[in-house]
Amino acid sequence: MDLHILDHRLRVTSISKNGLVNFTHPLIKLIFLRNRTRCKFFSLTETPENYTVVLDEEGFKGKTHLLSFHTPTTLVPFQHVSVFMLSTYQTDFILVRHEKDLSVVISTLEEEFNIYKEVGGESVPVHCQDVSSGLQKNGKEAIQPTVHPVLIPQNQFCVMSLDPDTLPSIATTLIDVLFYSSSPKEDTQSSPNQDLDCIKFFSFSLIDGYISLVMDTEAQRQFPADLLFTSSSGELWRMVRIGGQPLGFDECGIVAQISQPLADSDISAYYISTFSFDHALVPEEDIVSVTDMLQHQRKEPAT
Ligand code: ARG
Repeated sequence: MDLHILDHRLRVTSISKNGLVNFTHPLIKLIFLRNRTRCKFFSLTETPENYTVVLDEEGFKGKTHLLSFHTPTTLVPFQHVSVFMLSTYQTDFILVRHEKDLSVVISTLEEEFNIYKEVGGESVPVHCQDVSSGLQKNGKEAIQPTVHPVLIPQNQFCVMSLDPDTLPSIATTLIDVLFYSSSPKEDTQSSPNQDLDCIKFFSFSLIDGYISLVMDTEAQRQFPADLLFTSSSGELWRMVRIGGQPLGFDECGIVAQISQPLADSDISAYYISTFSFDHALVPEEDIVSVTDMLQHQRKEPAT
C-alpha cells in the first residue's frame, strides 16, 4: 500500500454556530468558485457544537503536515503521534503537526507502506534514515491511552461524491443545508430527545479537485438523487462519536483505540476528526459488534 507525504500546510479552525454568518462569503467562494482561489485543500464539517474548517493557506507558516493514503485502508494505529484524521470518498488523510512527527510516522509505517514524497512534482520513495529521531517501536500496548466516552447516534449516514462540474446543480441545496439548516426547533437545548437520538453532522470537502460529502439520510433526501454518487453497494454507515469533553490536539492514541480493534475485526471505518470530537463511521451491519467492542473496552454499558 502506498502512502504519500504531501506538501500542504493546513490550518484546522472552528467557526461557532452563530459566527458562520460572518464567513458565508469566503466559504461560498471556496466551495463554488474554486478557480478564483488557490486553495487546494478545503473541508467544512458541521457538528452539533460548531463548524470545523480545514484549509491550506497561502503564506501560512503553520506546522501541520499531511499524509495521504491513496488507497483507502483500515486505519493504522498512531499511538505516539497526535494526528487529525480525515477520510474522504477518495483518500484517507492524516494530519500531523510537527516535522519531527513525520520521521516517527515514517519509521512506524515503513514496514507496511511504500512511502513517497513529492519532489519537484515527482513521487520519490522515502526511507527512514534516522530511526533514533523517532520513538522506538516498543510493543503496541506500551501506552495506555485515556478511554474516551462514545456516543452512537441513530442517524444513518452516506458517504458520497460528485463530479465537480455538476456542483452548480446542487448549489442551492448545498447552500441551504450548510448555511440555513439550523432552525430554532433543532436547537439542542429545546429538543433534548433529538439531541440524544440523532446528531447534526454534515461534511463537505474539496481536495485537489475531488469532492466528498458525508450526510445523513435525511439531508440526502434534499439533494437531487441522480447527481451524487456512492459506492456501488450504496452502503449506509453508523457513527461513533468519540469524546465527552473536547479532545484537543495534543493527545495521541484516540484514533488508534478505535481503529485498531476495528481493523482487527476486519471492519472498515471512515474517520473524521473535527475541532472538538472524533467521528468514526462504520458499516451499518457492523454497528452491533462495534457497540459490543466499545462496551467491552469501557467495561461498562455504553449509554
Ligand atoms: N490527536 C488524536 C489522536 O492522535 C485525534 C484527534 C483528536 N482531536 C480532535 N480535535 N478531534 O488520536
